[in-house]
Amino acid sequence: MSKRIIAAAAALLASASVACAQQVKVGVILPYTGVGAELAQQIERGMDLYLALNADKVKPYTITLVKRDSKAPNGAEAKIAAQELLTQDKVDALAGWVYSPDAIASAPVVNAGKKLAVIENAATSFITNLSGDYVRTSFTMWHSSYVLGQAAAKNLHAKTAVVAYTDYPPGKDSLEAFKAGFESNGGKVIDAIPAGGPGQVPDFTPFFQRAKDEHPDVLFVFVPAGDHATAVVKTYGALGMAAAGTKLIGPGDIVQDIKLQGMGDAAVGLITMHHYNADLDTPANKAFVAAWKKAYGADTTPDFTSVGGYDGMAAIVHAVQATKGKMDGDAAVKSLEGWKFDSPQGPIMIDPQTRDIVMNEYLDEVVKGSDGKLHEKVLETFHNVKDECKAQQVGSCAPKK
Ligand code: PHB
Repeated sequence: MSKRIIAAAAALLASASVACAQQVKVGVILPYTGVGAELAQQIERGMDLYLALNADKVKPYTITLVKRDSKAPNGAEAKIAAQELLTQDKVDALAGWVYSPDAIASAPVVNAGKKLAVIENAATSFITNLSGDYVRTSFTMWHSSYVLGQAAAKNLHAKTAVVAYTDYPPGKDSLEAFKAGFESNGGKVIDAIPAGGPGQVPDFTPFFQRAKDEHPDVLFVFVPAGDHATAVVKTYGALGMAAAGTKLIGPGDIVQDIKLQGMGDAAVGLITMHHYNADLDTPANKAFVAAWKKAYGADTTPDFTSVGGYDGMAAIVHAVQATKGKMDGDAAVKSLEGWKFDSPQGPIMIDPQTRDIVMNEYLDEVVKGSDGKLHEKVLETFHNVKDECKAQQVGSCAPKK
């Protein structure tokens, strides 16, 4: 081989290894098929949009997403996906997790892998206690449900509530959080009704009929976003519960933006608490919604799950820059402790103590606009809300005896 060819080959190898060092691989675990498929698409689009709009912030690195389907929300596939992404694909970070059982089951693998793992939806409070590598950019059920419990008593002047919840960890958190906020302000939860699981949309009629017969001032419902939410609002409407004097309230999961128009007039007047809705009237959100529609179509809309993905990718890019692309797990997590970001939802921060998000909560009412469409109107903003489950060490966050 001539000297020239050897020199050219060496140069090629050197440039390839530089290119390699600039590559960051992120393993994405989302339910691309099954009951959560729409949520997976919304989150993935949020991640992609962040990368598309912020190419300058990513440079000189290239972020590649390695996607794995977590399928049914029971933890089994998600755990295998986490294991394979870490050991075979050798990813530099993990992201995703729509359903809490998936994040709970993945925790031991995440711990062993020692890589940053960004939770972009799963909302059971204690999940971030299960691994020091978890950082959450989404929300917990305590963020919304505790503050809504307080507001139900103070703003809505409700005295009695029935709670119906999907019977798995975030549903139990929602119940505990709402009850704590409501009862410490003079309200009383008179019944708590487990209402099916996350894997299949149940017929809510028997659960809501039981609630209707108890004549509470409010029916607080938690279900995971998606088709569960549409069924909740339709059943509430079909049973004539509003006319019977019971108001439907819940975390914003029950009025997910992509589902809102399909809920019909039964949704009008619904009161929810959440950190995001697509109608938020801020310059940052207007720009985000416009960019989303440009990228994905005028008839599409982002929702709170998309924002979890968008903010999650912003967090990953921050960690990539802070670690100069090395993505050592400890350093990547550390770089996000106290990290602040101007999200489409408003200002957010990662609590350095808990690695969980601190953000605004909005008390919203569903209204019919002059365009004939359903919209979310903000009635009140609660600033810098922390996860009170961990702050107060109560409910599922209480120290183990
Ligand atoms: C969860 O499983 O943690 C979860 C899923 C969907 C939601 C909220 C929580 O809307």
